[in-house]
Amino acid sequence: MRKRGIFVTDTSPLTQSDTEPAGPDELRLRMIDQLRTLSALRGAPVAEAFAAVPRHVFAPEVTPEQAYAANKSVVTKRGPDGAALSSVSAPAIQAAMLEQADLRPGMRVLEIGSGGYNAALLAEIVGPAGHVVSVDIDGDVVERAPRLLAEAGYPAVRVVHGDAEHPIPDEEPFDRIIVTVGAWDLPPAWWEQLVEGGRIVVPLLMRGTTRTVALDKVEGRLVDRDHQRAGFVAMQGLGAHEETFLSIADGEQVGLRIDGPADTDAALLADALRGPRTEAWSGVEVGGTEPFDDLDLFLATRPGRFGLLQALQPAVEAKLVSGWARWGAPTRYSDTGFAYRVTRRVPDTDRAEFGVFAHGPDAAALADQVVADIRTWDREHRHSGHRAHITVYPAATPDEALPAGFVMDRRHTRVIVTWPTGPDHADHTAATRG
Ligand SMILES: C[S@@+](CC[C@H](N)C(=O)[O-])C[C@H]1O[C@@H](n2cnc3c(N)ncnc32)[C@H](O)[C@@H]1O
Repeated sequence: MRKRGIFVTDTSPLTQSDTEPAGPDELRLRMIDQLRTLSALRGAPVAEAFAAVPRHVFAPEVTPEQAYAANKSVVTKRGPDGAALSSVSAPAIQAAMLEQADLRPGMRVLEIGSGGYNAALLAEIVGPAGHVVSVDIDGDVVERAPRLLAEAGYPAVRVVHGDAEHPIPDEEPFDRIIVTVGAWDLPPAWWEQLVEGGRIVVPLLMRGTTRTVALDKVEGRLVDRDHQRAGFVAMQGLGAHEETFLSIADGEQVGLRIDGPADTDAALLADALRGPRTEAWSGVEVGGTEPFDDLDLFLATRPGRFGLLQALQPAVEAKLVSGWARWGAPTRYSDTGFAYRVTRRVPDTDRAEFGVFAHGPDAAALADQVVADIRTWDREHRHSGHRAHITVYPAATPDEALPAGFVMDRRHTRVIVTWPTGPDHADHTAATRG
């Protein structure tokens, strides 16, 4: 266990002049300040762990400046197609997930997906009385992580080689499971290895969008305590999930990412994109810095076909699609057309209005549906004082035992997203299926 060399306060001073190159200790303090600004850090234990663990040791392939960038991951392995297979996750996401985990000294923690750095943060927080196990499917990662953990002063972390779909041998159940790879399902091993009342924090894929969800194991189900938008590398092994990228412009400049196999003809959507654009505006506004992740999750959990429209910068510059497609714009689609969520600035304010760009012969109808959904979210849910609830049940749970909400059936689980309504809106939503 590494000694805590830096005491973190709410106003960590920057002690060096900006003109001198900063060393790792200084960069670490700056990163912590940035994490606070981003609201990724909430309390002292997680901040102290970030102050104690030398992140640059776990990312030797980049400069210390790059290693300590609060919002950047460091890719450590890529597949033949260039896709990231392993990375040291971005500090902002790690901080948010560690806060979601509500860790305490003495806890037993399982990390799924290794790299070393996050496991070291976990070891700092649970302390010498706790126990951290990290499992990874990739032999290279499993060779590297313990070496870097030992170098950084955390030799007690146990790193296991295997597919996290299976239970970890020779371990008692864990108080916390932190999944650091995108998951579409929660295999039985995760339920079984979690104590009753324990918490799993998992980046859960829901129709192409990902939320890190903190779920407590309570009486045979997993109950949402918090969820936040995030992005992660994809799960490999038995839990790998098929997503489809339907290319709808030359050179894969623009595409629709959908959950599962293709269920529409990319050529027809490409025809639609080449045709005229229909715009529709909702009258629903958002402030300059106000988050609206919940709107996008709401759009993702409406009945009907849904995907994310994605584009490369040149396609945006050519005005083929809105800039929102750079980030993955929530999209409703049919056999012949699609409609995606955009915004436009409200003149003379720092506010924006939500609207829709749509293409294809049925553009007007698709746009009307998305605008209606935006207005429903604004009228019934946005101001209810409650966010969406995400609850996970075993796959064998019958319909009548599920709460009302949007149901996403997986191999091992049934994921339900429920949209609470305000006091003026009784929730009569029947269960709908994705
Ligand atoms: C984002 S990286 C982990 C980051 C790491 N926790 C850190 O300290 O920043 C995700 C890892 O998950 C691993 N992985 C993917 N599928 C897996 C599976 N089925 N079981 C175990 N590990 C898996 C990958 O090999 C990769 O190393």
